[in-house]
Amino acid sequence: MKRILVTGGAGFIGSAFVRWQLKHYPDVHIVNLDKLTYAGNQENVADVDAARHTFIQGDIADREVMLQAMEGCDAVVNFAAETHVDRSIAGATEFLRTNVDGVYNLAECAKETGLSRVLFVSTDEVYGSIAEGSFTETSPLTPRNPYSAAKAGGELVGMSYFHTFDLPVIITRGSNTYGPYQYPEKVLPLFTTNAIDDEPLPLYKGGEHNVRDWLYVDDHASGIDCALRNGVPGEVYNVAGGNERENIELTRKILALTGKDESLIKWVPDRPGHDRRYSISADKLKALGWQPAMPWEQGMEETVQWYQENETWWRKIKSGEFRAYYEKQYATLKG
Ligand code: NAD
Ligand code: TYD
Repeated sequence: MKRILVTGGAGFIGSAFVRWQLKHYPDVHIVNLDKLTYAGNQENVADVDAARHTFIQGDIADREVMLQAMEGCDAVVNFAAETHVDRSIAGATEFLRTNVDGVYNLAECAKETGLSRVLFVSTDEVYGSIAEGSFTETSPLTPRNPYSAAKAGGELVGMSYFHTFDLPVIITRGSNTYGPYQYPEKVLPLFTTNAIDDEPLPLYKGGEHNVRDWLYVDDHASGIDCALRNGVPGEVYNVAGGNERENIELTRKILALTGKDESLIKWVPDRPGHDRRYSISADKLKALGWQPAMPWEQGMEETVQWYQENETWWRKIKSGEFRAYYEKQYATLKG
């Protein structure tokens, strides 16, 4: 593959994927198309080799711009999405527009351009919650919040293009991802940056024993790369971190790494429909040769250290659009 269109490549995982490609494949050129929503940030790819990276500000739901961006590309990898569950609970219009309609437009344009691979990045949240054991790729989709429902809708539309039009579609379903450059609305960067500032950590009451499976961002990027290059069209591949942790354990880890104590934990009302536990098996992807490389302890140390050393990056975000969102979302912290 010589030229890959990455959509949503100015976001958290997309930008890590762009860096991963440019580092591991000296001949590859990345076309990075991103709408630059509140979550998109060109600083996330500021350090990449500009000669092998073309940035286009555009919307995956825009037919003209997508057809143009796809010209000369071998593959497209779609990261572009609205991604935060709490925002989808507050209002899901943009989630349906990008995660379903946008994916539909991308598939339509890909059908006309003859790409050799069309990879849709999805999430383990499409399976819903599981009390024991782990979901596999053949488990039914039972998404339980507007974000995961929209992601599942996009997946179904995308995969229908494989069955109907032979579009070479591959889907990956990743678990909760952590690492540098994550927008600080998500729990890990939110709690880490709040702890650095001695601000409260708003833990959802009743959800403190809920479990997420943590995947280091570069391992997510390498998992998607493995599915892209070694995967079979029409197939779905789970990408799991293998690090299941309760939210309270994650919170305590962040407090320990930032040298703060538990008095910073503040209980806030639980998320409606809060999924209890996510767990997936990645055996199918591992059979293609993928292995996560980052151990949990090291990943957490390096990630917290990155936020400690890159205050300029997140302070700019937290003082902008984010502030109004935070004050509304966590209004009970004031009371
Ligand atoms: P993010 O919110 O950090 O980034 C999303 C990016 O998509 C942003 O740069 C944004 O500007 C861009 N975007 C949004 N709408 C767009 C549109 N209509 N057209 C073009 N660009 C648009 O998200 P992330 O955490 O990096 O997630 C990337 C992908 O991985 C998403 O598809 C998400 O569903 C999936 N995923 C995320 C996680 C996780 O833990 N973060 C886990 C599994 C799967
Ligand atoms: P989040 O990072 O939003 O990811 P997701 O909902 O996609 O799993 O949340 C991870 C977990 O942390 C989830 O169980 C909800 C919990 N959480 C809190 O307790 N407080 C918070 O302020 C946030 C954002 C999340």
